[in-house]
Amino acid sequence: MEIVQLVGGTLRDLLIEEVKFLYGVSDQVEEVERDLKTIHCFLKDVDARPNRYDLTTIRNHAAELKDVAVRAEIVLEKYAIDATSERQDDITLKEKLKRYVCILCECFNMYPVGKETKAIRSYVAELADSMKSMCTSTGEGSLSNTSANSEDLLRQRYAHEVEQHFVGMEKDIEHLVSLVKLDNDERSVISICGMGGLGKTTLARKIYHHKDMQASFEARAWVCISQQFRPETVLQEVLMQILLEEKESIKNITNLRELVMKLYHVQKQKKCFVVMDDIWERNHWEILKPAFPITEANSRLLLTTRNENIASQQLILHKLDFLTEDQGWELLKKVALPEVYSSQGQCVCVCVCV
Ligand SMILES: Nc1ncnc2c1ncn2[C@@H]1O[C@H](COP(=O)(O)OP(=O)(O)OP(=O)(O)O)[C@@H](O)[C@H]1O
Ligand SMILES: [Mg+2]
Repeated sequence: MEIVQLVGGTLRDLLIEEVKFLYGVSDQVEEVERDLKTIHCFLKDVDARPNRYDLTTIRNHAAELKDVAVRAEIVLEKYAIDATSERQDDITLKEKLKRYVCILCECFNMYPVGKETKAIRSYVAELADSMKSMCTSTGEGSLSNTSANSEDLLRQRYAHEVEQHFVGMEKDIEHLVSLVKLDNDERSVISICGMGGLGKTTLARKIYHHKDMQASFEARAWVCISQQFRPETVLQEVLMQILLEEKESIKNITNLRELVMKLYHVQKQKKCFVVMDDIWERNHWEILKPAFPITEANSRLLLTTRNENIASQQLILHKLDFLTEDQGWELLKKVALPEVYSSQGQCVCVCVCV
């Protein structure tokens, strides 16, 4: 009897311990489940947008995460099978005794689950930490600092691109060229603003290549800002175009402060014309602004943006209008019938025939 009581007591204690242990495991299992969801989201993003994750380290991490996700799934399956098959509430006394005896086996079965779960948890935490620090070091919260995503690359507009079928905008060009050429105007930053596709970049390019611009400035630079904003890259690009002779050494300057100071001083000494195409956010402009000696130099900056909020007292806002109906027709004809339109006389003939 005493032995039975003793064994019973021991078993009861064991049961309490076992329950604690199982609860511990179930908490851990829930955490693993949460981690698993995060991992799945991350892996889905890697598959959907591989360009964003092309750092070798990220790829290694992705491979490790895939492994750990499989391990976690196995643990969850084992936990589900063990926990459901062994736990029943409405059992008889005889079955309870039997259950006590089984507890030892159950503890034994669940132990590896708990151990593996713990190992997975710490492994995932380690990976998450290292990925977090990698994201921070890009300064962007993005997972890649070496390549822009394809949307950004498609949006890149270059100074040398030629507008084949340009129409209208004569007044805008005339007005902006006179503003850019003005000497000693305190508001040396001009912003072309308007909705997407209106022709801001096309107009900026016309100004950039205008014959008067080439004669009025000692140096020019054209830079396209992307949504994945990297101020260091933007300033480096501007500097490399303005100071062609220092191109190699500029590549080595990666500190934002240093780049800002260098560009600021260069523009004070040299009369520069800079175009920054496609600024997305006011904050982006605020970060770049200190590099431009707005009130203390003859250098000029032309911005294009969809965002009207990127404006300050020191900035001249040039709102772009739609093409007129006639200009729209002219553009349509040029695009739809390019060969015919090149000869004015023939165009009329074809239009009449149509
Ligand atoms: N005056 C114009 N004559 C002929 N084509 C034009 C004219 N303005 C714009 N386009 C054409 O319209 C398209 C969009 O122009 P653009 O890229 O300059 O727009 P945007 O305002 O800079 O747009 P986003 O805000 O997306 O940068 C281009 O293909 C361009 O060739
Ligand atoms: Mg544009």
